[in-house]
Amino acid sequence: MVALDGPSGTGKTTVARKLAERLSAGYLDTGAMYRVVTLAVLRAGADPADAAAVTAIARQAVFTIGTSPGRPAVALAGQDVAAEIRGPEVSHAVSPVSAVPEVRELLVARQRRIIDDVLDEVGGIVVEGRDIGTVVAPDSRLKVFLTASAEVRASRRGAQDSAAGRQVTHADTLAAVNRRDRLDSGRAASPLRAAEDAVHLDTSELDIDQVLVALVELAGRRG
Ligand code: C5P
Repeated sequence: MVALDGPSGTGKTTVARKLAERLSAGYLDTGAMYRVVTLAVLRAGADPADAAAVTAIARQAVFTIGTSPGRPAVALAGQDVAAEIRGPEVSHAVSPVSAVPEVRELLVARQRRIIDDVLDEVGGIVVEGRDIGTVVAPDSRLKVFLTASAEVRASRRGAQDSAAGRQVTHADTLAAVNRRDRLDSGRAASPLRAAEDAVHLDTSELDIDQVLVALVELAGRRG
């Protein structure tokens, strides 16, 4: 099992999926789970900062998350929401939702079950998030903490937004990236931080293929 942690815009998702394909392993995007719960909160018209309401909605939400690296499906109440969970409304509200300890407890338990099932079925999994190496799976064979400068991460996020047809200015994207980092790193419950035994990889100057080469090499060494 490979744990890939780090803030957004480090190339984590793209590289995690490619790495899983290369290793013929499964893939789990834990961020998508926090995002789908956030979408449920928004759809219910609840305040993302209302921990009790958020907890109740998280307990009732019926969602599924795929573990195939090719096209990981995400559904809420039977409806495909893979694109909607990447939109600005969810991105804005996801940090307060994911800071609620009960939400984390619920999702971490589910993540561990999914990881166990995939390991039984396929024998390997690449899991990406913020707390995989520290909380979800501290026994991971390989833990990598991806970083990149905020400027570079905002540019990557901006490119993804325009590819998806979302119009956002660079200044707004940079502000959103910095805001989410601050909230994710500053929260009391499982803040974003590297595990002590994680390998740090700064992707600011690397393209996806170079990051992939580095990860395949690390995975091989830990094999
Ligand atoms: O990775 P992604 O940007 O989709 O994650 C969305 C948000 O979900 C993060 O900003 C963070 O607030 C939360 N998250 C988390 N723990 C994880 C994965 C994501 O708190 N393991």
